[in-house]
Amino acid sequence: MAESTDFLKLANERQSDRKYHDKPVEEEKLNRCLEAARLAPSACNAQPWKFIVVNDSEIKNSLAELTTSGRLIPINHFTRQAPLHVVLIMEKPNLTSKFGELVKSKKYTLMDVGIAASHFCLQAAAEGLGTCMIGWFDEPGVRKLLNIPDNKRPMLIITLGYPAGNKRKKRRKEMNRIVSYNSY
Ligand SMILES: Cc1cc2nc3c(=O)[nH]c(=O)nc-3n(C[C@H](O)[C@H](O)[C@H](O)COP(=O)(O)O)c2cc1C
Repeated sequence: MAESTDFLKLANERQSDRKYHDKPVEEEKLNRCLEAARLAPSACNAQPWKFIVVNDSEIKNSLAELTTSGRLIPINHFTRQAPLHVVLIMEKPNLTSKFGELVKSKKYTLMDVGIAASHFCLQAAAEGLGTCMIGWFDEPGVRKLLNIPDNKRPMLIITLGYPAGNKRKKRRKEMNRIVSYNSY
């Protein structure tokens, strides 16, 4: 049984890594990250996700290019360094989840994808790997590059590799700003 502090330690260690070593990621480690994502909970157990592992370096570099915005906006230029990218596709939910989304006006499917992404990144941290979730990318370009059908959406790209940077101290809101008891 894990100690109750183990998960907190892991949550603290996971960070968005924006520098990577050249070293390839072992297949079994990648598979465990995918397994952790596969085990994630989802509304009505819809599991509305698919993971495209991009391990072909040419395709991965083209994908990395699609996460940047040229030279004007300095964003995501590090993505090329990561040896692997995993693209999270939002699939259609099952009927019950869709019904729930309509009746309750809640984006369960989006939440589901986010939780799966989080499982993936936390397992990666447990494996000593670094990740960064990338939400800023050229979606039509990514669709075209990876042959994603029109009715499916790539929501996130996760870079994966051995981190080359240092661990940073977390910058988070204070607990008393985000938690209240018994009333808003
Ligand atoms: C949905 C989502 C989208 C993100 N998109 C990007 C991105 O495009 N580029 C980037 O460098 N970081 C991106 N991030 C990482 C956040 O900036 C980062 O999680 C946040 O600043 C907290 O830092 P930490 O992950 O190191 O704890 C994204 C994170 C999430 C959850």
